[in-house]
Amino acid sequence: MGNVPIDLAAELRPLLNLERAVETGTYQGNGARRLAEVFPSVITIELAQELHQQAAENLADTPAIEARPGDSRQVIPGLVDASIPTLCGSTATGAADPRPAWRTNAPSSARSPRSARAAGVTAS
Ligand SMILES: C[S@@+](CC[C@H](N)C(=O)[O-])C[C@H]1O[C@@H](n2cnc3c(N)ncnc32)[C@H](O)[C@@H]1O
Repeated sequence: MGNVPIDLAAELRPLLNLERAVETGTYQGNGARRLAEVFPSVITIELAQELHQQAAENLADTPAIEARPGDSRQVIPGLVDASIPTLCGSTATGAADPRPAWRTNAPSSARSPRSARAAGVTAS
């Protein structure tokens, strides 16, 4: 399980002209709220229906956040839009999962900050 790397996200957003964040694992919505302090648009996805419903109610006061139910493996393919530079990541990734938890579709010419590489943020 992980947390939203908000300092890294805040650093990368202007460098990569990121417009949107997509988070796997809403839980109570605290990570989505932090992301909404940085990004104009946040989509957060929660697998557990009850958690999704509670979080969606809590987050209704923040129009920049869209809470979606479901398994992100099924939801994210429907969100792919090459015209929207997006930081996409999971707070549900287990320590046993070697894949980088946060990725971006920003153009490769913009995707070179050393801090991004060091944190394992990769091209999607
Ligand atoms: C560590 S918590 C999220 C913490 C939250 N992002 C925060 O910053 O407060 C992980 C959440 O991911 C959810 N989850 C696990 N697998 C998922 C999946 N495949 N799609 C969407 N949500 C998932 C779990 O139900 C759990 O609520």
